[in-house]
Amino acid sequence: MTDRGVEAEPLLSLRTWIDRVAELGELGHVAGAHWDLELGAIAELSYRRPRPKALLFDEIAGYPRGMRVLTGSTGSARRLGHTLRLGDELDDEALVAALRGKPSQWAARAADFPVLEVADAPLLRNTVEGPDVDLTAFPVPRWHGLDGGRFIGTGCFVVTSDPESGAVNGGCYRMQVQNDGRTATINAVPGKHGAQNIARWFEREGRAPVTVSFGHDPVLLVTGGTEVPAGISELEYAGAIVGERVPVLRGQATGLPIPAGSEFALEGWLRPELACDEGPFGEWTGYYSASRRPVPALEISRVHFRDDCIQLGAPPGKPPHDYSYMRTAMKSAMIQDELVSSGLQGIKAAWAHEAGGGRLFVVVSLAQRYAGHARQVAHLTAHGPAAAYMNRYVVVVDDDIDPTNLDEVVWAMSTRTDPAQDIDVIARTWGSKLDPMLAEGAPPHNSRAVIDACRPFERLAGFPKVSQSDPTYLRSVADKWRDALS
Ligand SMILES: Cc1cc2nc3c(=O)[nH]c(=O)nc-3n(C[C@H](O)[C@H](O)[C@H](O)COP(=O)(O)O)c2cc1C
Repeated sequence: MTDRGVEAEPLLSLRTWIDRVAELGELGHVAGAHWDLELGAIAELSYRRPRPKALLFDEIAGYPRGMRVLTGSTGSARRLGHTLRLGDELDDEALVAALRGKPSQWAARAADFPVLEVADAPLLRNTVEGPDVDLTAFPVPRWHGLDGGRFIGTGCFVVTSDPESGAVNGGCYRMQVQNDGRTATINAVPGKHGAQNIARWFEREGRAPVTVSFGHDPVLLVTGGTEVPAGISELEYAGAIVGERVPVLRGQATGLPIPAGSEFALEGWLRPELACDEGPFGEWTGYYSASRRPVPALEISRVHFRDDCIQLGAPPGKPPHDYSYMRTAMKSAMIQDELVSSGLQGIKAAWAHEAGGGRLFVVVSLAQRYAGHARQVAHLTAHGPAAAYMNRYVVVVDDDIDPTNLDEVVWAMSTRTDPAQDIDVIARTWGSKLDPMLAEGAPPHNSRAVIDACRPFERLAGFPKVSQSDPTYLRSVADKWRDALS
């Protein structure tokens, strides 16, 4: 173990983020919870409350005071607004409005924020080398009752690279502690950019270099955990969000960047021959992912960590879960952006419902301009990069329907569709092994339905009028009859 001088807080320090969130009154403290299920259960109870705080767990049973775990980081408009540098006082509606157009702006500006290499960081205060590594020295939670083990990677930021171009990718993938803490598996779903990088390294060199940060400003959880377009580094995208170049250390064993603001990070090589049985794990679909199966594990070169390091936890589960609010807000903004930037007109709003984990059930509202417009929007939504993975239903509604309001959406589906002609089913689309509907051993396809719940274009003028009073008239009646209606 080496001992280095502690520096000032670097950019994307989780401590700076926590201090601000505490000032906003959005941080709760829990002392004495057990890492084995109790911590996860407290977090789960918290997500189900109306305005959940972020929770900072300390004095975790069996671990020294100061080794902490944070959950619920992005679960409110104020915390997500702060994380995305959109403002500290936003409510749900203002956050959605502020997010409009931002993902494509961040993507366009990312290249202006190349990472900034630094030589030192508080993270280097403690270093453990390969044979001495023991990940169980950290209070890694077992989050859900049927999980196959302790998952250290939930809010993590995993850096991989393209072996040909060297382009760097940051992604968030679940990581299970294996072999009594000597290693961990990384479970990136095929098709994800990180998984593609790893597969190419395996083909070329039989192993793949990675670095992983386990505690950082949650902006890295958002960028790593969201479908940032291919070819854009999530570290640069995060730079565009915060308006500064992200400082990084260069990993000595892999040459890959490690965010200098990290609390706790490792570097090493993923090796297929070290594969360990992984899972099950309680997932964002609301179900445990299927049975245990072998997943490549790390040959860990080094672990670096700050004194009293803080892990960023983000356990999924039946929604609402740790990051379902974030996923809905980000996905909705990205899908809308993608549709608008494809040149489509009349797009009013998109909403990727939290009940569908921000992926399975997407609604788009549209001012129809021509015959076929609604169907075009529906199909593009279902296959655009922002929604393609694990989508199941896309519903397109007219612009008098609020796509965030499920009652209005169900009303439109119930009264403006002829199922025989308004539901298209597309087979063999991009599914996942996480899908509870996928039969054991079947390839990870799903099918999806796009539902055109807009009034038929050719009948727009003559379609029965909605039986609700004129809003101006209603307002005047409400004024006149205020006492009777109170
Ligand atoms: C907390 C959290 C956990 C996630 N776990 C996984 C996972 O285990 N495997 C996976 O492939 N994607 C997982 N995702 C989704 C990916 O992070 C997301 O699809 C991301 O865009 C992948 O990046 P990439 O396409 O650059 O590889 C998770 C996301 C979050 C926020």
